[in-house]
Amino acid sequence: MKPPKWRIVVLRLDHRPERDKRVTTHIGLTARAFGASGLWTAGLKDLKIVESMKQVTSQWGYKRFEVITGVNWRHRLRKWKEEGGEVIHLTMYGLHIDKVISKIDSSPRAKLIVVGSSKVPIEVFKVADYNVAIGHQPHSEIAALAIFLDRLFQGKMLHKRFLDAKMEIKPTADGKRVKEPE
Ligand SMILES: C[S@@+](CC[C@H](N)C(=O)[O-])C[C@H]1O[C@@H](n2cnc3c(N)ncnc32)[C@H](O)[C@@H]1O
Repeated sequence: MKPPKWRIVVLRLDHRPERDKRVTTHIGLTARAFGASGLWTAGLKDLKIVESMKQVTSQWGYKRFEVITGVNWRHRLRKWKEEGGEVIHLTMYGLHIDKVISKIDSSPRAKLIVVGSSKVPIEVFKVADYNVAIGHQPHSEIAALAIFLDRLFQGKMLHKRFLDAKMEIKPTADGKRVKEPE
């Protein structure tokens, strides 16, 4: 399978280690599995997220998946745009994904996808090139990210295989089977 057309990084705002460890790790897992090349978390630095992602990538592949925690989101957003990338903020208040996805797809710019946790500062809405709603009901940052990436890649990432994986699933109708990649 061809590598993704774009560099995609997911920025998780306001990570609070005690409260958000599990959800932020799941954002990282979703980002990796659905076509992004990295996860940055803003808020408190949390090396447990880096460790959890390392455990997964060392078994299931994509050791190059970048995880950086405790970033300064304002600085990262500014730098991303200065370097020519675009910022896509997922929020139920934005424009419906059906309205904007073809424009986002047709742009070759690298994509920084921002998801919130607590209240998202209004500055993020202003700096974003797109504020994108995955429907206009409140749900979850993990669901929003998965649906956004799945739509962007038109389902193709569900067939993604990682060349450096030590283990792969052998799909079966019953039970759990794992094999070494051929
Ligand atoms: C649980 S929500 C909390 C949002 C927060 N209360 C606020 O006022 O911004 C956390 C994150 O999930 C994502 N999210 C939830 N529902 C969404 C939707 N319908 N469309 C896009 N993103 C959504 C957004 O990234 C949001 O920042």
